[in-house]
Amino acid sequence: MASSIVNVPFQAMKGVDCHYVGLKPSTSSKFSCVKTAIRVPSPRLFVVRASEKHDGPIKKLGLSDAECEAAVVAGNVPEAPPVPPKPAAPAGTPVVPSYPLSRRPRRNRKSPVLRAAFQETQISPANFVYPLFLHEGEEDTPIGAMPGCYRLGWRHGLVEEVAKARDVGVNSVVLFPKVPDALKSPIGEESYNDNGLVPRTIRLLKDKYPDLVIYTDVALDPYNSDGHDGIVREDGVIMNDETTYQLCKQAVSQARAGADVVSPSDMMDGRVGAIREALDAEGFQHVSIMSYTAKFASSFYGPFREALDSNPRFGDKKTYQMNPANYREALVETHEDESEGADILLVKPGLPYLDIIRLLRDNSSLPIAAYQVSGEYSMIKAGGVLKMIDEEKVMMESLMCLRRAGADIILTYFALQAARCLCGEKR
Ligand code: PBG
Repeated sequence: MASSIVNVPFQAMKGVDCHYVGLKPSTSSKFSCVKTAIRVPSPRLFVVRASEKHDGPIKKLGLSDAECEAAVVAGNVPEAPPVPPKPAAPAGTPVVPSYPLSRRPRRNRKSPVLRAAFQETQISPANFVYPLFLHEGEEDTPIGAMPGCYRLGWRHGLVEEVAKARDVGVNSVVLFPKVPDALKSPIGEESYNDNGLVPRTIRLLKDKYPDLVIYTDVALDPYNSDGHDGIVREDGVIMNDETTYQLCKQAVSQARAGADVVSPSDMMDGRVGAIREALDAEGFQHVSIMSYTAKFASSFYGPFREALDSNPRFGDKKTYQMNPANYREALVETHEDESEGADILLVKPGLPYLDIIRLLRDNSSLPIAAYQVSGEYSMIKAGGVLKMIDEEKVMMESLMCLRRAGADIILTYFALQAARCLCGEKR
């Protein structure tokens, strides 16, 4: 019996599960086609073939269709390989009668081609928004709690990072500034300085890459000397409407600089409607709002706060961010944000809150975003560094699961790494 190793339909990358089918931008920014890539099967996978005689094309005899048909009718049936013999089971395998199952779901999983055909969820670099940390410096500073992430110099490292992301089809970024302490204040005026770090960076990026989609974060925490997302009253209360007033100015300032999507992450009540009104009043009808609709008071944000040095100086964020124990409350927020005019609804964190993503998906027609936050990223990185998990596979699986739960777009620090993987580039 001749055996040969099964051939996957397309030449694939070494050992990587990749699901990206579509257009891959090349360095010349022209688009070229990427083949479906399916994991190379392990060398243990054999296909039993009865004969290898027919490898290569069979020689034509110059017969007409009628002659071929006549030959078969006359009983001169041309040769084809026989049905292969049944593959042998290991010695000692118990001989049992087959269970009379009417449904064997494994049938639809039995080959890479079938699995690819029946895959329900797809993921592509177009689904990613890349969060980037920026600062005034010229050098990139590593962020200790987020291996592989840096505070990027706004005129140098940041521009290069955006170029790398665009190279693999990630053309959306969200900006998070590390603001000098001397510019922080209790009411966060720096957040609406038209010449502040974020507006300056937006202008620079838009000048270089006009088609880049720029999302901005709307919240006071990077600018607030108290480290809270809103203005803190002397008794510790976060002032809702006064904060919202500031957020409107911040959003308008970002829109004026060229932001495409402003994203309030502060969780003040009524801020989506107020920001919509403020944007429209200034002629920014075309600027979208991605609302952090269900943002939970989560400990998964720890590494991010280290990155921006934005830890609250006292207390926690539980009077404005949601209780992680709550589910129905996310619907209340969804209805408010929808009626106030949000364009995209975001759930944050991501993986521990898949039920909330699905809840919003099933209760709104708007696009849903999921934020795979700093703590989720760092856990996967740490597990990978310690060789406890396969970082790349866990990364891709976690992103696919966020899509499966109902997220259209994913904000993830893995955006560049995952897009490279999807494009078949391992560096
Ligand atoms: C603050 C903001 C936070 C994040 C995004 N915007 C932190 C917080 O609410 O304290 C967290 C993102 C992450 O952890 O990756 N407005």
